[in-house]
Amino acid sequence: MRILIGCDHAGFHLKEDLKAYIQSLGYEVEDYGVHQEEAYDYPDVAFRVAEDVARGRGDRGILICGTGVGMAIAANKVRGIRAALCHDVFSARASREHNDANILTMGERVIGKGLAREIVRVWLQSEFQGDRHARRVAKIRAYEERKTEA
Ligand code: RB5
Repeated sequence: MRILIGCDHAGFHLKEDLKAYIQSLGYEVEDYGVHQEEAYDYPDVAFRVAEDVARGRGDRGILICGTGVGMAIAANKVRGIRAALCHDVFSARASREHNDANILTMGERVIGKGLAREIVRVWLQSEFQGDRHARRVAKIRAYEERKTEA
């Protein structure tokens, strides 16, 4: 599984830690930056990662900013993206099993590295359960298609 990871200046340190951790779990990681703490606008990296996940250049995406909020808002503007902001393990698992989330967002100013690692591990290892959840996700997709055509 190929994971696309990105951050702004406020998520740089957590992104670096998670990148190494995800690689240690055996996943391939592509780093979309940023690579330093210099101020950077989160939508710019959110759109690049989200578009590449949507077009299948990566299987999943992980976006880190100060809170995870801006990254989620921006990534969810991209057609085909279901970005989930998760700061607890239960939501991370549910976002995969119920919502088929293809991007995880988190905030470096909100949680510590240990919990962030656990959230990432569970999120990467959880699978969509389909069934009634597939019907609900299909409704979101159908709404999105209508909006795009209008
Ligand atoms: C940057 O100061 C901060 O606003 C950004 O990282 C993020 O938290 C936005 O949602």
